[in-house]
Order: sequence, then structure tokens, then C-alpha cells
Amino acid sequence: MLLKILPFAHDLMKKTLNEGDIAIDGTCGNGNDTLLLSTLVGDKGKVYGFDIQQQAIEQTKQLLADNHRKNVSVILDGHEYVDKYIDKNVLIGGAIFNLGYLPRGNKEIVTKPKTTIASLDKIIQLLKPGGMVVVVVYYGHKGGGDEKDAIINHLQRYDQKTYSVLQYGFINQKNTPPFLLAIEKS
Ligand SMILES: C[S@@+](CC[C@H](N)C(=O)[O-])C[C@H]1O[C@@H](n2cnc3c(N)ncnc32)[C@H](O)[C@@H]1O
Repeated sequence: MLLKILPFAHDLMKKTLNEGDIAIDGTCGNGNDTLLLSTLVGDKGKVYGFDIQQQAIEQTKQLLADNHRKNVSVILDGHEYVDKYIDKNVLIGGAIFNLGYLPRGNKEIVTKPKTTIASLDKIIQLLKPGGMVVVVVYYGHKGGGDEKDAIINHLQRYDQKTYSVLQYGFINQKNTPPFLLAIEKS
């Protein structure tokens, strides 16, 4: 009955995004979430995917090409610069982030509290009513605990009249299991 973290993240995106929407993958990595968003918004929609690593950009482009998806701009840049690529008047349906390091990649290159928060603050301004940002928080690596704390502290201050912020996770799993934060715009 209880969905695991990634299936829950994907389920939220499936319920939130509609054909023709604009969506953002804040951390492309190997491209799995980018591909999901691309499929959900369909050919009339558009996805902007960000990553700071060339390896991630190439993996994502390859996965999209393998699946004949053409509605994605894969951008080699930090998600904190989202406003350089998406006009402030554009309304987006949703966004997803997977924090931490690239699976099978360099474990030293990780998302950081300052840039993650800067990006989230910009992206929530673009959300249309009913739109949602999902953040999957992995924090077992060096610096991950600080990022987790900083983000939770920050999101707790989002105005509840406009945003509902959910934390979803399993509290009896060993080590540092990932958990999910979801920000829904009312
Ligand atoms: C956990 S991985 C993402 C996994 C991905 N969602 C997937 O399905 O494979 C985190 C990614 O965030 C990227 N990253 C780190 N800082 C970033 C930033 N400021 N902007 C965009 N991407 C960043 C890393 O390069 C890494 O590929």
C-alpha cells in the first residue's frame, strides 16, 4: 500500500502533469526522471532538464534519443540559473529534483544547499495553481545532512496560504533512507 520514495515521486508527477505542460528536471543525472516528465507532458509539452556534469547531460540525451523523445532542452548549467532559460512569465506544471550525487558517477559532485534553495525559490514562482515541485532527498553522503536540514528549514517558511509542503518518508529504515518533500501551489 505505501509507495516507496521514487514510485511516490513519480506518482505525484503523473497526477500533477498534463499533456502540453512545461516541466523542469532540476537534476537530470542519468535522465530517468527527465524521460518520465517528457512522456507525461507529451509532444505538445516541453521539459527543461539541468545538470552541471557533461556525463549526465550525455546520458540524458542518449536515453531521450533511445526513446524518441524530442520535447526536452537538456541544459549543461546549474538549476539555480533556471531564470536564464525560462521566462518569468511562463507557467510550469511541475518540477522534480533528486538531490545528492550522480549514480555511478563522481560522488564528490553533489547538490548544495545554497544552489538547491535558490533554484526552488525561483521555480515555485513559476508554478501554476495546482502545480507541484517534488524533491527526493538523499543525504547519506558528506554534506548531505547539512543540505537536508537547510532545505527543511527553508521550506518550513513558505507561506501556507500559497504553498502546501509535505514530507514523506519511512522512519524505521536503517542508515539514511531517502525521503521526499513536495511543494504544491494552491
Ligand atoms: C541524484 S543525481 C540525479 C539522478 C537523476 N534524477 C536520475 O534519474 O538519474 C543528482 C544530480 O544533480 C546534479 N547536480 C548537482 N548540482 C547541480 C546544480 N547546481 N544544478 C543542476 N544539477 C546539479 C549532479 O551532477 C547529479 O547528476
